[in-house]
Amino acid sequence: MKILGISGSSRKEDTSGVYKLVKTVLENTGIEYDLVSLRGKKIGGCIACLGCAKDNICKVSDDMTELRDKIVGADAYVIGAPNYYSTLNAVTHSFIERWFQFRHQDGNTLWGKLGVAVGVGGMDGRFPANDIEKFFLYSFIETVAKVSGQGAASCYSCGYGETCGVGIPQMLYGKNVRITPEIIPDVSKQPEVMAESADAGRLLGKRLRNGHDRKAVTQNMQQKMMDMMKSAV
Ligand SMILES: Cc1cc2nc3c(=O)[nH]c(=O)nc-3n(C[C@H](O)[C@H](O)[C@H](O)COP(=O)(O)O)c2cc1C
Repeated sequence: MKILGISGSSRKEDTSGVYKLVKTVLENTGIEYDLVSLRGKKIGGCIACLGCAKDNICKVSDDMTELRDKIVGADAYVIGAPNYYSTLNAVTHSFIERWFQFRHQDGNTLWGKLGVAVGVGGMDGRFPANDIEKFFLYSFIETVAKVSGQGAASCYSCGYGETCGVGIPQMLYGKNVRITPEIIPDVSKQPEVMAESADAGRLLGKRLRNGHDRKAVTQNMQQKMMDMMKSAV
């Protein structure tokens, strides 16, 4: 059994809240995992060429190509993304968008597998976590847990954070804000978020070890998706 973890943050691993939370989830599963950072990777969005329609293999050649085997080989996914404009950042969006290659005919590579969705935002990480859950649903993957935390917006380190009228420090602490290490958000300093991540990992590990029924999960997710479609119109 193997889990594929994806950190969609563009920040270095030691400063990214997304990376920390995805790693914490994975470490608590008790199952072998692979953790891939999308930082620096060149992954474009789906170009709707339909080159994958016949064989479920994307024909676009970029850094996504080498990740295909890892996606196919995994039994579950832990995907995390930063909140950019209340949605996923672009590289994570492109990465998941390219899962369109698995959607054709009887291509059930992803169907009935399990996932954990992770989001981190300068204010709120729930938007990207919810978006990842929706992407999982389109692939009939069950989201067993969602985790979100608050990370350090760039405004704390850009050099203008104390004086900028539209930055997060002034938004949160007012005009006379002084940026000190104590006020800079870090998921490691949020015990409830770290505990939530560990719990998510343990739950995912338990579900996988219990040998979940992929067919039943697929049927549930197909139904859930139909319900979502109906409620949207
Ligand atoms: C282009 C851009 C847009 C952002 N938009 C939002 C936003 O709409 N809401 C929010 O809460 N944080 C926003 N942020 C802040 C990031 O979500 C925050 O820095 C987070 O910690 C990033 O996660 P990471 O440290 O793992 O990269 C934005 C950051 C950037 C660079």
